[in-house]
Parts: sequence; C-alpha cells; structure tokens
Amino acid sequence: MAQETQNHLAKEPQNKQAKETQNQQAKETQKQQAKETQNQQAKETQNQQAKETQNQQATKKRKRNTVYIYGNYKAYYNYRVDKNVGEDPRLAVLKKEWFEGRRCLDIGCNQGLMTISIAKKFSCESIVGVDIDGTLIETAKWNLRRVVKKEQSEVTKTSEKEHGSQDKVSESSVRSLIDRVSFWKENIVQNEHAFSDQYDTILCLSVTKWIHLNWGDDGLITLFAKIWNLLRPGGTLILEPQPWSSYKRNRLVSEVASMNFKNILLEPSCFPEILLDKIGFRSWENISTNVKGSNAGFNRPIFAFYK
Ligand SMILES: C[S@@+](CC[C@H](N)C(=O)[O-])C[C@H]1O[C@@H](n2cnc3c(N)ncnc32)[C@H](O)[C@@H]1O
Repeated sequence: MAQETQNHLAKEPQNKQAKETQNQQAKETQKQQAKETQNQQAKETQNQQAKETQNQQATKKRKRNTVYIYGNYKAYYNYRVDKNVGEDPRLAVLKKEWFEGRRCLDIGCNQGLMTISIAKKFSCESIVGVDIDGTLIETAKWNLRRVVKKEQSEVTKTSEKEHGSQDKVSESSVRSLIDRVSFWKENIVQNEHAFSDQYDTILCLSVTKWIHLNWGDDGLITLFAKIWNLLRPGGTLILEPQPWSSYKRNRLVSEVASMNFKNILLEPSCFPEILLDKIGFRSWENISTNVKGSNAGFNRPIFAFYK
C-alpha cells in the first residue's frame, strides 16, 4: 500500500508536466491556425482587390475602346460644358424671337439637355429632338421627366410659401413642358418617318461632321435639302458645323468614315455658300462671337441662316 502511494506521488508531477506540455502544444496549434487563417484571409482580400482592379481596368479599356461612329457620345455634356459655367454657353447667343411661341426641331439632340434648356428658357410652343441613337433618345426622355419632376417640386414649395397651398396655374405651366417637348429616334438622312409639320426654327448643332463622315457629300446635301423642306418660309436654321480639322481626328472611326473622308469635296468653309447659292437661303450671320465657357475644342462658329 505504501509502495502504491509512493508511486502515485511520483507520477503526479509527471502528469502535471505532460498536461502543461499538452496545453502549450494546443496553444501553439491554435496560434498557428489563427496565423494561417489570417494569412488566408489576407491572401483572399489581396486576390479580391486584384480582381476588382482588373475589372475596373477592363471597364476603362472598354469605355476607351467604344467607338461612337455617329458622335453619339453618352457623356457628351460632361466634357462639352465648362463645369464652372453650368449652363450650356451656346444658350447665351440664341435669340428669344427664334423660339418664343415657335415650333422648333433639334436635329441630333443627343441626351436632350440643350433641347430641354431651350424649351425652358425661351418658352417654345413645341420642340422636337431627334437622334439616330435610340438609347440616347430614351435618356433624353428620362432627362425630361427628371426636369419636370424637379420643377414640380420647386413650384409646389414656392406656391406653398406664397399662398399656403398648391397653385394650379403654376402646376399647369410645368405640365406644359412635358407637352411641349418630345423626342424621337430618327436618322435624319433617311426617310424613316414623314414629318407632318414644318418648323419655325431648326437647330443642327455639331452634327454635320457625323453626317458627312457617314454619308459623304451626298448625305450632307440631303441633310441641307431636308432642313430647307422642313423649314417654313421666314424660318431660321441655327447651324454649328465642326471645322475640317476635327474631321481628321475622327476619320478612322469606321471604314465607311475613312472612305468618305477621302472623297469629301464640300468642306465646312463652303457651307454658307452651299446653303445660300444651292439650297436657297436668303441670308446668314455669324452669331457665335460671344460664346464663352465652352471647354477646349468646342469653340465653334454658330451661324443663323434665314429662309
Ligand atoms: C456631337 S453630338 C451633338 C449633340 C447636340 N446637338 C449638341 O450640340 O449639344 C452629335 C449627335 O448627332 C447625332 N446624329 C448623328 N448622325 C445623325 C443622323 N443621321 N440623324 C440623327 N442624329 C444623328 C448623334 O447620335 C449625336 O447625338
């Protein structure tokens, strides 16, 4: 019995040591595992970040590589208008009498921002914006709804302040913006839809180069003849042609464009002569001398041609 007790007492420190060793080993294993998990997580985060960077670079490259063969840029107004100016500087040189109470057409309206601004600033009777790109036309319609909504909430706030209730008259004036402005998809060079109206004023701003590059001199003459037919006698064409130097920059957007570029005879400097002598306009003037606030590359001449 005494021997047994002695043995037992001798084993106790051994057990304790073994336990401590076990605990230490367990702790080390835990530490090791925690480190491994950390390393794995760090690696996963790194991989995730690398993937995101790759995706971002791919999106940027795709955007850079997107070719807008009709000048149908999706963010045209972001880089056209100087952010410090806010309003499109071309609005400052347009005369009220060309628009107020008039029926107007905006050829190549892009996302409709200039079209809507003209309708708002000058109270046209109506203005139609047409563009070859259906997606841009959808965006233009969305822009119109957005502007109308914003105006509606401003009118509500003002009339609540002034009269303590909503003002029906102001409401109807806002509603009329949506009745006065419309957008259609239309390739102006081809007869997709028959226009039922003639217009008092037609805008064709920064569009001629794209028509010229895609349909050559014939396309340009078709455009001018169409404008002439769509304009009522006494009406005005507001034309902003791109200069010849900018054709050179875009001549490689497509094979068709480079082929047409080589064959173009009617350079933009001849447009006034063509519109007066061949198409039949009575007179013209340069209205762009006061345009200030366009970003670099957009200081183009703007002409008014009178039928
Ligand atoms: C450079 S943007 C000018 C936008 C706008 N007129 C302005 O100056 O603010 C040219 C626009 O013309 C449109 N366009 C080009 N060819 C066209 C065509 N044959 N018929 C209608 N729109 C056309 C493009 O889709 C594009 O939105």
